Parts: sequence; C-alpha cells; structure tokens
Amino acid sequence: MPDRRDKFYYLAKKERYRSRAAFKLLELQTKFGILKEGQNILEIGSSPGGWSQIITSITGSTVFSVDIDKMVPLENTVFIRGRVGDKALKVRIKDEMDRLGIEAFDGILSDAMSKTSGNQDIDHSSSYLICQEVMALAEALLKPDGFVLLKQFQGDLTVKFVNQWKNSFGFSKITKVAASREASKEIYIIFQYLKGF
Ligand SMILES: C[S@@+](CC[C@H](N)C(=O)[O-])C[C@H]1O[C@@H](n2cnc3c(N)ncnc32)[C@H](O)[C@@H]1O
Repeated sequence: MPDRRDKFYYLAKKERYRSRAAFKLLELQTKFGILKEGQNILEIGSSPGGWSQIITSITGSTVFSVDIDKMVPLENTVFIRGRVGDKALKVRIKDEMDRLGIEAFDGILSDAMSKTSGNQDIDHSSSYLICQEVMALAEALLKPDGFVLLKQFQGDLTVKFVNQWKNSFGFSKITKVAASREASKEIYIIFQYLKGF
C-alpha cells in the first residue's frame, strides 16, 4: 500500500483538525470569503468533521452536518446521518430546522464523494449525481442571496452542470485547491448570491 500521508495530513494532526480536507475549505475561504459570522450552514458529506470544525469556528452558529457515515460528536454541530437524495433526509433536516427556529440556510456546502473507484468516468458521474441532489436540497432550503459550494470530480458533465444552475445565481466559479492531491480531478464549484430558482 502506498503511503498517502502528505504535509496536509501532518498539518491537520498538528492543528487538531479531524481531516486534511479542512485545509481545502480554509483555502476556499481565503480566496472567496464565503463563510461569515452568524450564518446558518448545511454541510453534506461532513465526516470525519474537518469542515464542520472550520465552519463553526467562523460562523459561531450551529452547523447542520450530514453524512452516510458516522461522525464523532462535535460542539455546535447537529449531525444527521443520512444520504443526500433520500426523501427522509430532507424531512429530518426540516425537523431540526424547526426545532432551532431556522427558516432557511445562508449556505450549503458539499464535500461529499463516494469512495473513488479508480475509473474517472464512474467517479465523475457519481459525483455529478451527488451534486444534483445537493442542488435539489438548495432549491428547497437555501435563502435568497445564499451560496452553494460543491466538490465535483471534473468530467464531461461539469460544464453542463454549471450552465444548468449558474443563471439562478449572481456569481459562479469553478476552482481547484492546492490541498487536493496533485493528480486529482477534484474541483470545487461555487454559486453565490441566489437570485431565485
Ligand atoms: C472527503 S469526505 C468529507 C470530508 C469532510 N469534508 C471533512 O472535512 O472531514 C466525503 C464524505 O462524503 C460522504 N458521502 C458520500 N456520499 C454521500 C451521500 N450520498 N450523502 C451524504 N454523504 C455522503 C462520505 O461518507 C464521506 O464521509
């Protein structure tokens, strides 16, 4: 087995982040300043929790974190175990929103990705489908002027995906981060300033 630990792995340990993925969000935050104090955020694909740590440290609010996998409890985090795209998940998110008096989210972030198969077409289409499910949640749960940040494995459908949704927002951008592994097809798509779906 190759050793996949790199400088971000060791940095995450040093900074007590739960994952090296935390540095991807920190980099995106430095470039785009998407997260702000007081925001209510929904996060998809949260486990083990590196992004949740960053989100709560910036917003100071409770983050809604969703994953099909378990997540060790984290302060200021409502964790919901479920799969994006399942009807039951939306109902559970809404129940928690009602409990906390939240009407809609300021931002929805997704770092969700199934285990990579090694086949780029399969990885691209599964990540494309997850992104479409996240956008369906955004249609129901995002505030006017809100933002969506999504991870996608780049492929044939990426431009089609961005074109499908960009007119609903005032700003859209495809970007890469240095903290992704070098050969990775991983990109992040940002939609900001929701005008309406
Ligand atoms: C790269 S990890 C996320 C790391 C996380 N951002 C962090 O900072 O710790 C991707 C996560 O997406 C989750 N995932 C994959 N498919 C999903 C789906 N359909 N719905 C919800 N979570 C999913 C996986 O279980 C995995 O925990």
